[in-house]
Amino acid sequence: MKGKNLLSIQDLSAKEIEQVLNLADALKRDQKAGKGREILHGKTLAMIFAKPSTRTRVSFETGMTQLGGHALYLGTDDLQLGRGETIADTARTLSRYVDVIMARLFKHQDAVEFAKHSSVPVINGLTDLHHPCQTLGDLETIREHLGKLKGIKVSWVGDGNNVCNSLMLGCSLVGANFSIACPAGFEPPAEVISQAKKNATKSGSKIEVQPDPVKAVADADVIYTDVWVSMGQEGETKKRVEVLKKYQLNADLVKKAKSRVIVMHCLPAKRGFEITDEVIDGSHSVVWDQAENRMHAQKAILVSVLT
Ligand code: CP
Ligand code: NVA
Repeated sequence: MKGKNLLSIQDLSAKEIEQVLNLADALKRDQKAGKGREILHGKTLAMIFAKPSTRTRVSFETGMTQLGGHALYLGTDDLQLGRGETIADTARTLSRYVDVIMARLFKHQDAVEFAKHSSVPVINGLTDLHHPCQTLGDLETIREHLGKLKGIKVSWVGDGNNVCNSLMLGCSLVGANFSIACPAGFEPPAEVISQAKKNATKSGSKIEVQPDPVKAVADADVIYTDVWVSMGQEGETKKRVEVLKKYQLNADLVKKAKSRVIVMHCLPAKRGFEITDEVIDGSHSVVWDQAENRMHAQKAILVSVLT
């Protein structure tokens, strides 16, 4: 994977995903054992943020420190990008200084444009369409809790958003079944669904998109949800809350899944909306493991694209 961009989880093969997860587990074990692995000594990561972040920012920055490298936080308003310098010129310039770039931008096409003009690997830290780093941390978490990915059933309840797109593609690559319940008009883009179905013919997973949450969670090993209003959609809040309120992940819905189902959320959560306090703080929830695993998975991505 040396020199590769990670703009979508689809940029990786099933084998590469497995390699990243194995490396993430090994780096996690070493970190827990207090064994430093300064594999990226002298390397610099530039992190560009056009939107706020808690997990992505802190996990990338801390991960880079643990690997012996350095991370730079660059808010878009602090860069000349905020005054109109083009994405292409910013990419050309930054890649003369740093070894790898992580970017959280609004439009996915802007991340594609950035990568086109960068001479160093570009990692997508979330766009309106994809969140591949989240998916790698999530697959690591699922494997840690359930022992496998192939053949399990992952259910998504709520908005078919960026996190859903990446998770669906990731599951379809590794052979996990993916069942989405979302209201009409809130489904993932048709091209993402058809790519997932294409992946599924190879991996053997089943992909289902329909409107009934109870049907989606039946026999589920994992139930996943995310906010109803993603960053950049604040103007649609009233309409989204109205349409999506039937999709709340609450204790009644959890009871319809397997008794040992795990509950996931990429965070930040809007408690009382897409998920209740009882569920996010309850015994099925693995959300803090998920947040932690972002760091281990991203350390593995950094090592994989740089060495
Ligand atoms: N899940 C996630 O990407 O969180 P942040 O927005 O806090 O980075
Ligand atoms: N779907 C959310 C994820 C945040 C990590 C958003 O894009 O705002």
